[in-house]
Amino acid sequence: MELILKNIEQYKVAIEHEPLGDAGEVEQFRIKYLGTKGLIKSLMGEMKNVPADQKKTFGQVMNEFKTFVENKYEGAKSAITSEEKIGLNEDYTLPGREFPTGAHHPLTIIRNQVVFIFQRLGFTIANGPEIEDDWHNFGSMNMPENHPARDMQDTFYLSKGNENEQSFLLRTHTSSVQARVMESQKPPIRIICPGRVFRNETISARAHCFFHQVEGLYISEQVSFADLKQTLYFFVREMFGKDIKIRFRPSYFPFTEPSAEMDISCLICGGDGCNICKHTGWVEILGSGMVHPRVLENFQIDPNKYSGFAFGMGLERICQLKYRVNDLRLYSQNDLRFLKQFSGVV
Ligand code: DAH
Repeated sequence: MELILKNIEQYKVAIEHEPLGDAGEVEQFRIKYLGTKGLIKSLMGEMKNVPADQKKTFGQVMNEFKTFVENKYEGAKSAITSEEKIGLNEDYTLPGREFPTGAHHPLTIIRNQVVFIFQRLGFTIANGPEIEDDWHNFGSMNMPENHPARDMQDTFYLSKGNENEQSFLLRTHTSSVQARVMESQKPPIRIICPGRVFRNETISARAHCFFHQVEGLYISEQVSFADLKQTLYFFVREMFGKDIKIRFRPSYFPFTEPSAEMDISCLICGGDGCNICKHTGWVEILGSGMVHPRVLENFQIDPNKYSGFAFGMGLERICQLKYRVNDLRLYSQNDLRFLKQFSGVV
């Protein structure tokens, strides 16, 4: 008891010297002395050790000490708030404080832009798993086992527990989401599927083992190739501006017939020829076509009644053209010097 009383005198001296210059220090003071784990609480806890005949005196001393601390705290608090109110501690000639803003990843920015454009045409977002089975990634997309077209996409297969198990893989394209949607929805279907895809490629400036695609699918009655062209034309003009030119080249994909790849005039050189467009003035941005009747049949959609178009584009390529990012590795290296350049871009 005696010791505690002596300590209290010392505490008082210490309290007189506590820094109470700003709101932060005042709060620290409150926590240290008046908080639930503060000094007052712990001293009060000593009450149980004080002999019965001294409890009253101890209580009085403690109450007096508590009021002392509280007064000190309240005084400091009101001084700070009134100073803040009249702005005494602000120097209005100083430059404003900078608020650090974060940045969206460039691929997120591009994905959002793409999604937004198609949403305005009535497309809704669909998603599917990154770990897929053979049927959704290949089989249903008209690429049966041993189909040579599987060679176009070097695949990461997951190892099987035993021979009879179904084989799983990392999806090589977002076309697998087409399969998922056709399986669960009836036409009319109008969806876009942004997502990550995986291929067994050696990592370099121009290839990576994962990248991002946006898939589109529209199935209804009397959908024509003209609809496909107009939809993509609208997209390209919204994305890259009114002066952009497009061209379709015949191509081959097992899940579309006819198939076409779409090029846009090179944004980097304006069509004059540079190393991005390999001196042709054109860059390929997507694959597309009319959904193959066999793909529709795989999902019990009658190809005599319904037709549809589909397309798939790589987001990294769009990003390269829009923001001139020429090395695919930059997207996944988390280098702040790269990422910070996109702060404020939405
Ligand atoms: N899945 C193709 C790829 O990854 C891209 C593609 C081509 C998607 C044509 C489509 C399409 O929907 O119709 O290379």
